[in-house]
Amino acid sequence: MEQKTADFKNREKALVFNSGYAANLAVYSSLASRDTLVFSDKLNHASIIDGIKLSGAKQIRYKHNDMADLESLLEKHKDAKEKIIATDTIFSMDGDTCPLSKIVALAEKYSAMTILDEAHATGVFGRGRGFAHEVGLSERVDVHMGTFSKALGSFGGYVAADEIIIDYLRNKARSFIYSTSLPPAVVGASLASLDYVMKKPEIGGRLLDAAEDLRRYLQALGYDTGDSTTQIIPVILGDNKRALTAKKFMIERGLYLAAIRPPTVPNNTARLRLTLRLDVLDEMERIKAEFKAMRESGI
Ligand SMILES: Cc1ncc(COP(=O)(O)O)c(C=O)c1O
Repeated sequence: MEQKTADFKNREKALVFNSGYAANLAVYSSLASRDTLVFSDKLNHASIIDGIKLSGAKQIRYKHNDMADLESLLEKHKDAKEKIIATDTIFSMDGDTCPLSKIVALAEKYSAMTILDEAHATGVFGRGRGFAHEVGLSERVDVHMGTFSKALGSFGGYVAADEIIIDYLRNKARSFIYSTSLPPAVVGASLASLDYVMKKPEIGGRLLDAAEDLRRYLQALGYDTGDSTTQIIPVILGDNKRALTAKKFMIERGLYLAAIRPPTVPNNTARLRLTLRLDVLDEMERIKAEFKAMRESGI
């Protein structure tokens, strides 16, 4: 499974973890230390934040996707010896993507290591290989992390990188060493999933086209979908009560949508969060009709 993951990601080696969460704990607690500064996007996933905390590194959070802010912070700390830039490639609650070419350029300019969380891009972007592949920058990124638990429909996390980094993680990462490894059934499911994506690399693109179509429809109804450009589409409703009313409305019609509220998202941006899957595309007209009904009901 590790060999196949490394081949899939086109990196020298990969290591498989029991979850994406465990993979992020491993990456940051092993590769960062008290002497490291980790520049982390404000909307990065909780597992990145926890990994950094565990490492004892200083976490410097930059404004979401704000490259001027990131550059000024890198400039301010340019004399620090160990620097890491950490970012999700697709942000879980907003469905927008990171400005990777600028991030990579800044990392090179300030001699920082780049670590990507491709949890939501794996299986979707870059013929399934991730967002860094999509934008042709995978070779310029040091560490690629992702999970089998989202588009790949299985379970477990991975880290793909140069051999020296993977060997180091194998010997150092406590969330790898001190936890029983995945059972064969899960490994089998992940291998089948990787095979499927390699055989049908175009399916991610089909999903993204469908997402674009749905997003336009929601926007035409007057809903705010934020900066989403991916299969994750937030329908930002503002206050918590409205989001919960919307969730109830949809559940009564057989559509399970999570109502995401603060503190997971900023105050006054409570939302329904859609994560489109290829197997619901046949139901697209019904999904649209339910949103139209929701709008007409005044929500
Ligand atoms: C961006 C991101 N990173 C990491 C994870 C953790 O992955 P896993 O669910 O496999 O632990 C998730 C989701 O839960 C995620 O959205």
